[in-house]
Formats: sequence, C-alpha cells, structure tokens
Amino acid sequence: MALGLLWLGLVLLGVLQTQAQDSTPNLIPAPPLRRVPLQPDFQDEQFQGKWYVLGLAGNEFNKEKHGQFKIYSTTYELNEDNSYNATSTLAWNQTCDHWLRTFIPTLWRGQFTLGNIERYTGIQRYILRVAATDYVQFAMVFFKKIYKHQEYFKITLYGRTKMLTPELKENFITFAKSLGLTDHHIIFAIPIDECMDE
Ligand SMILES: *[C@@H]1O[C@H](CO)[C@@H](O)[C@H](O)[C@H]1NC(C)=O
Ligand SMILES: *[C@@H]1O[C@H](CO)[C@@H](O)[C@H](O)[C@H]1NC(C)=O
Repeated sequence: MALGLLWLGLVLLGVLQTQAQDSTPNLIPAPPLRRVPLQPDFQDEQFQGKWYVLGLAGNEFNKEKHGQFKIYSTTYELNEDNSYNATSTLAWNQTCDHWLRTFIPTLWRGQFTLGNIERYTGIQRYILRVAATDYVQFAMVFFKKIYKHQEYFKITLYGRTKMLTPELKENFITFAKSLGLTDHHIIFAIPIDECMDE
C-alpha cells in the first residue's frame, strides 16, 4: 500500500519512471485528442473548487499491481490570466502532502497545458482536457503526457463529494473502454478522511 501511494505521488508529480518501460513496449497507444470528448461550452469559473479523485484509469495503471489508491483531492483556482492553480492534497506518511501545478488555457476551451513544463524533467508535453462535467457532481478529465518519448494517458473521475455512485462508476468504465483501456487499467479510490478537509 505504501508503495502504491508513493507511486501515485510520483504519477501526480509526473516523474514516474516506469522501470519496466523498456521491457514492456506494449503500452496501449494514447488516442488522438480529436477522439477524446471535450466538454462543450466549458465554464472555467464553475469548474473551480475542490474535486475528490474517485477513479483513475490509464495506460500505465495496473489494477493487479496498484490495487486501489486512497482518495485524494485536487482543488482548481483560477488566476487572473485564466490559468488554473491545481493543488492536489494526499495523505502520506501521517501528513498531508500538497502538489501544485499550473495549467495554461489553450485555444480550445476546456483544454490546458502544464505550466512551467521545463521544471518537470523528461516531460515534453502535458495536456489536460475536460472531457465531461456537470460542475456540481462529477467531472471526467483526460491527461496526456509525453515522457521520455513515450506517450502516456490517463483519465480521472472527479466527484464533488467522496461518494462514488454506481452510475458514476459505470460511466467512467465506459469512457475508459472507449479510449481502448480495459478493466485491468481502471482503479477506484478507498475513501479516507485524512487531509480531506484542507
Ligand atoms: C497560484 O500559485 C502561485 C504560485 O504559488 C501563487 O503566487 C498564486 O497566488 C496562486 N493563485 C491563486 C489564485 O491562488
Ligand atoms: C515519515 O515521517 C517521519 C516523521 O516526519 C519521518 O521521520 C520519516 O522519514 C518519514 N518516512 C518517509 C518514508 O517519508
């Protein structure tokens, strides 16, 4: 479990070095962006605030290896230039760790690129695309990064509360599969209370 958390933290930081990378060239290819839905008429102000991360799926995720992860939160705050500060808060080693990233808007409303990308060694490109949200209950967000010339993608299921309803879960699984992922790549969060009120 501790290892799983560390791994998750590294994924969040974007510094995961997939050790098996060279020996497993069979990563599911990332879909082209035009095949990933984009929330129509995205409202950046309404999207702000705290989201609980209830589910994760991606081509570097492995249910057998990573099992579940502890729920964590990401809070989006708009800056004056319309970029977001995204602060993730994770319970880790009896404390609450915070990871701040900045996302810069692009020509497509709802699509962002990682700010200060030069600080993240090895990351050549990093995109966040809000695939769907109703702002008040859920969001599904697509991330794609090029790390050391390999293309990784993941989707996250966000909830405004820690409740993972069967419907949200089902929609998330369907979305993951529409991008070529399988059950094997989809993991859900264990609810915890630590650090959730920060
Ligand atoms: C976003 O983060 C930067 C760097 O930490 C900080 O200076 C700025 O005040 C933050 N913006 C908001 C809206 O909190
Ligand atoms: C966990 O926290 C304690 C106390 O702050 C520290 O001594 C220890 O090195 C930490 N362990 C890890 C794995 O970070």
